[in-house]
Amino acid sequence: MKVLLVGNGGREHALARALIRTADPADPVELIVQAGNPGIEDLGDSYVTDPLDPAAVVTRARSHEVDLVVVGPEAPLVAGVADAVIAAGIPCFGPTKAAARLEASKSFAKEVMEAAGVATARAFTCRTMDQVDAALDELGAPHVVKDDALAAGKGVVVTEDREAARAHAEACLAREDGAVVIEDYLDGPEVSLFCVSDGVTVIPLVPAQDFKRAHDGNEGPNTGGMGAYSPLPWLPDGVADEVVATVAKPTVDEMARRGTPFVGLLYCGLAMTSKGIRVVEFNVRFGDPETQAVLERLDSPLAELLFAAATGALDRTPAPRWSKEAAVTVVMASGGYPGPTDTGHEITGIEEAEALDGVHVIHAGTGMRITDDPADAAAGCCGFEPTEVLVNTGGRVLDVVGRGPDIEAARARAYEGVALISFAGEHHRSDIATWPAGLDAKN
Ligand code: GLY
Repeated sequence: MKVLLVGNGGREHALARALIRTADPADPVELIVQAGNPGIEDLGDSYVTDPLDPAAVVTRARSHEVDLVVVGPEAPLVAGVADAVIAAGIPCFGPTKAAARLEASKSFAKEVMEAAGVATARAFTCRTMDQVDAALDELGAPHVVKDDALAAGKGVVVTEDREAARAHAEACLAREDGAVVIEDYLDGPEVSLFCVSDGVTVIPLVPAQDFKRAHDGNEGPNTGGMGAYSPLPWLPDGVADEVVATVAKPTVDEMARRGTPFVGLLYCGLAMTSKGIRVVEFNVRFGDPETQAVLERLDSPLAELLFAAATGALDRTPAPRWSKEAAVTVVMASGGYPGPTDTGHEITGIEEAEALDGVHVIHAGTGMRITDDPADAAAGCCGFEPTEVLVNTGGRVLDVVGRGPDIEAARARAYEGVALISFAGEHHRSDIATWPAGLDAKN
């Protein structure tokens, strides 16, 4: 199967790896990928295509006569890439712009949840600071303030500090048409459950847990995610089925009823509260870095599953098969992340880490830099010559994934890999996949 993969971050590297690793040998996957990520470029033919330009993505898909387009990040979906690909008659894994509103607008997601009878935190949508103050008074601390619009993982502030909550709200409202959703704090551990949907049928993947705070002990600012693990040995059996029955399927049905069927990946961000399962957020794409742990455990062909979703055939497709082994992902981030980041530093040790049993490294924010510095240039016949070195280019730089018979073994392997890799300014959490210490909604 020929697949065009849109996006070039850590999630897409994990998707590319899983598409190839799990493919049926009788139907291998040939990947066309977006240039810019050295890890992904090793796995397919890479091209410069603007992922936010629907016509450019269609042209790329047509010129390679692909069987399927898989859209990784939310921004191309919100830009209408899936609409254009579907209109061109090419199967697309990823929702239309209208269905992607489940992530693009927090207030829209709340409205759909209410209509579908899905349990979530009580919330107020605010467009003025007077409304913000009234909502903060009504709901009390800890305050949960969410940018209504897409914010690249930086839209949510959870804080006891009312002034910090107001400052975040004020920054969001300062934008044209800015709005914030202020909601009740949900107690209990968080779980990410990814559900594949063809618009009617919903298939859950295995649950994972993400560690969202920057520092050990769930301290520091929220990030896009500093690590993840799967399975969750503490999670009662049957939670995935319960989430499909009470959250994902009612939401997919409500989207179909509105004439905007949801095809793609519905990411259910959940809190296991003392009062039951509550939705924290929906996303309309695979989570990052949970995908790196979840897909490492997939034993059946990912391409077949995504193609079945894109073509309305999930009810006729075998359920995914999963390894009983565990996978742990540790994110190595640039200095300063999640604030302004310190980039451009050479990365060493990836080959050594990947030589370890049960360890591989996903590229999230890396690139090649040409150097003519004799200190790091390769020696040629007449002295040194300009050469390329791998450097950090983004906030989250690498995801080191360990796999093992249980969480402890997978975790030990991931951290053995982390210890071999270095770049100036690097930081990571040292408590990924620990529990019950990790069982805190502030993850
Ligand atoms: N890990 C959180 C997210 O992907 O949104």
